[in-house]
Amino acid sequence: MGDGTIMTMDGKDVLIVGGLGPMGSSTAHYCIYQGASVTIADNRAPLYGANDFNMRDLEGKFELMVGDIREEQFVDHVVGEPASNHGR
Ligand SMILES: NC(=O)c1ccc[n+]([C@@H]2O[C@H](COP(=O)([O-])OP(=O)(O)OC[C@H]3O[C@@H](n4cnc5c(N)ncnc54)[C@H](O)[C@@H]3O)[C@@H](O)[C@H]2O)c1
Repeated sequence: MGDGTIMTMDGKDVLIVGGLGPMGSSTAHYCIYQGASVTIADNRAPLYGANDFNMRDLEGKFELMVGDIREEQFVDHVVGEPASNHGR
């Protein structure tokens, strides 16, 4: 912001696709520390960097949905369930 304003993510819902990988898990850590409610969608693709160890220290502080983001049904599930949990 540049004006000294401190932003938090309190009350924000964040969906991170690929959140078990290096970049996604770092982003997830940041968002959780900022107070966001984080959902990770990841299919643990064998040739990519998914590793449950990346999020082990924050177990219980985020929701993990395992599936492939290329599948429409999974996207409906990933987007629909958290939305309805939050009354949307
Ligand atoms: N690692 C870096 O230093 C770096 C730097 C700049 C940009 N990037 C970019 O950021 C992105 C992520 O980087 P990374 O190093 O974490 O990659 P990564 O390949 O290690 O992790 C990707 C994650 O996405 C998941 N994934 C892959 N396909 C999926 C699908 N169809 N549905 C659901 N989940 C799926 C994998 O299981 C894995 O957990 C990449 O596009 C990369 O090019 C990475």
